[in-house]
Amino acid sequence: MKKRHLAITLSKLRGFQNPKVELEQYKTPGNVAAELLWLAYSLGDIKDKIVADLGAGTGVLAIGACLLGARKVCAVEIDREATEIIRENIKTLQVEECIEIINSSILEFDRPVETVIMNPPFGSQNPHADRSFLIKAFKISDVIYSIHLAKSEVRQFIEAFSRDQGFKITHRISVEFEIPSQFFFHKKRLERILVDIYRFEASKQKRKGYMFEFR
Ligand SMILES: C[S@@+](CC[C@H](N)C(=O)[O-])C[C@H]1O[C@@H](n2cnc3c(N)ncnc32)[C@H](O)[C@@H]1O
Repeated sequence: MKKRHLAITLSKLRGFQNPKVELEQYKTPGNVAAELLWLAYSLGDIKDKIVADLGAGTGVLAIGACLLGARKVCAVEIDREATEIIRENIKTLQVEECIEIINSSILEFDRPVETVIMNPPFGSQNPHADRSFLIKAFKISDVIYSIHLAKSEVRQFIEAFSRDQGFKITHRISVEFEIPSQFFFHKKRLERILVDIYRFEASKQKRKGYMFEFR
């Protein structure tokens, strides 16, 4: 599968039916999801790996990881309504075998995984919502891919925060992220923002050394 084909396939998946503003429910656009997944795939972090998608929403990232050969993906999502959409999207692309849907808060998810992929809330509704996602990701995995606003204050925070947690940023790619008008505060039919896709890796001293077997 080519990156462009992946982007188109993911962009056709069903979005949130009733997006909840307090949970910052935006479907990850196909181009952004494909960029993150392609980077992860090309660095050997997807194929045959045990992966977690934290705040899986509509399942776009989780499903994309399966299409690129992940061994298993845990799709963790707090909103039950969203998990029904994941279920439907999984069926459409016939990746039922690869994905386990976990309807819970990420705070309760404690399984070690080889790679975390996530598009967390940016924290525009609940300040620092992205922080608890990063803390959880750093706790359960040595390799993390995550999407954050491309703003200088966010970059400064992420750089300092990841360093304090014993992680280094190995990659950062900026991409355009389109948000269709869906909440009362959206003024335009289509908002275009710039986001950064990060890859974090645990420093040698902080590696957890988990052993992974097929479960
Ligand atoms: C920006 S959306 C990303 C959705 C998903 N990546 C997609 O493309 O559809 C953030 C997601 O995190 C979920 N979420 C927010 N807080 C959560 C929590 N504490 N535990 C699990 N999921 C959470 C939201 O319900 C939402 O689906």
